Amino acid sequence: MGKALDGVRILDFTHVQSGPTCTQLLAWFGADVIKVEKAGTGDITREQLRDIPDADSLYFTMLNHNKRSVTIDTKNPEGKQVLETLIKSCDVLVENFAPGALDRMGFSWERIQELNPRMIVASVKGFGPGPYEDCKVYENVAQCAGGAASTTGFDDGPPVVSGAQIGDSGTGLHLALGIVTALYQRTMTGRGQKVLAAMQDGVLNLCRVKLRDQQRLERTGVMKEYPQYPNGTFGEAVPRAGNASGGGQPGWILKCKGWEADPNAYIYFITQAPVWAKICNVIGKEEWATDPDYATATARLPRLKEIFAEIERWTMTKTKFEAMDILNKYDIPCGPILSMKEIAEDQSLRKTGTIVEVDHPVRGKYLTVGNPIKLSDSPTDVTRSPLLGEHTDEVLAEIGYSPEQIDLLRTAGAI
Ligand code: COA
Repeated sequence: MGKALDGVRILDFTHVQSGPTCTQLLAWFGADVIKVEKAGTGDITREQLRDIPDADSLYFTMLNHNKRSVTIDTKNPEGKQVLETLIKSCDVLVENFAPGALDRMGFSWERIQELNPRMIVASVKGFGPGPYEDCKVYENVAQCAGGAASTTGFDDGPPVVSGAQIGDSGTGLHLALGIVTALYQRTMTGRGQKVLAAMQDGVLNLCRVKLRDQQRLERTGVMKEYPQYPNGTFGEAVPRAGNASGGGQPGWILKCKGWEADPNAYIYFITQAPVWAKICNVIGKEEWATDPDYATATARLPRLKEIFAEIERWTMTKTKFEAMDILNKYDIPCGPILSMKEIAEDQSLRKTGTIVEVDHPVRGKYLTVGNPIKLSDSPTDVTRSPLLGEHTDEVLAEIGYSPEQIDLLRTAGAI
């Protein structure tokens, strides 16, 4: 069976996490992704957080599956010529260098258009145009500047960043969508275009509901589903809401049996209005189903702390999985707090290809997250990340270089 992006060739200038996430997705959809790296070192993540001496780190291997690697010195004049040939033969150039680095290499948008007017040039930057456009940015900077940190954590503590890499991997996802959209538009216009995904914008897009709440707060002064209501105070900006649900159905994280010893013996419990009577039955508070102080969603809002404390008295008598089994029978929305150990061992995630075991010639077998997006006509086969420069000769031969020319380029230090 063919792949959705068969025939699309990507010149991949990405490094670290945000850009590699994007090009890995495109590779999983069938694009030929040629990763250009510095000879000798390559993508800095190859050696970051190493767990096995001299083997590419999990940081690198888990973000660069299904790609080919070529080493080219982009500052060497002959290396630049090789890049020009590659630009002419590729459809998309993806980069996440610090602002200005691509221009300094001599590959401005105008130059790339001269070489290949069909080329799509896609970039991740920390910020869009404005006062911070020249800044270098990493994940947590984006989480802070995009509104995630100020709205995460508990009200009596400092801002908190999330373990989910919404700045890097989140922006990589946004960029991938921009690229396939530009490829689609190119089928009609014949022209390439620039695609920009700024990390601050990507994080803010994922924090959309908090900008919603900012405007609600300005209009009404309180937000009744927040834990600050009714006894705490609201300031001028959206406060941190602890584990309150972001939507209209109140939820909280509750202890389960074994919580004293297991840091993840918790469940997320949602008091969804349509199943309120069932919740009352399950926890043994049948009278709450008809008591006017508890029977309606509005009446419950000022009593959420007391309600969740009562539900917790019930969840503490069950393990998180026992509680799940019981609550699911009654269609009560809930979810176990799963540790990474539990996820790594989850057989259903292995069956769907969301968790995959991959073999690597230097590090041996390791686990990775496969393609979370499943296409019925374009299945994903996860293959290992390339060794540094593994495909330099192969790719150069494909774009017309003879073995003698390749030897000369190597002697000149261009590759
Ligand atoms: N051959 C020769 N030189 C190369 C090269 C190659 N194959 N590939 C890259 N380089 C050079 C670049 O030209 C640049 O040189 P210059 O500064 O002299 O112009 C240099 O390597 C390093 O690029 P830079 O992007 O500045 O790396 P950095 O390690 O200093 O910064 C980031 C890293 C992530 C902070 C920065 O790239 C950035 O802000 N990127 C945009 C936002 C982003 O994606 N952040 C998330 C990362 S997960």
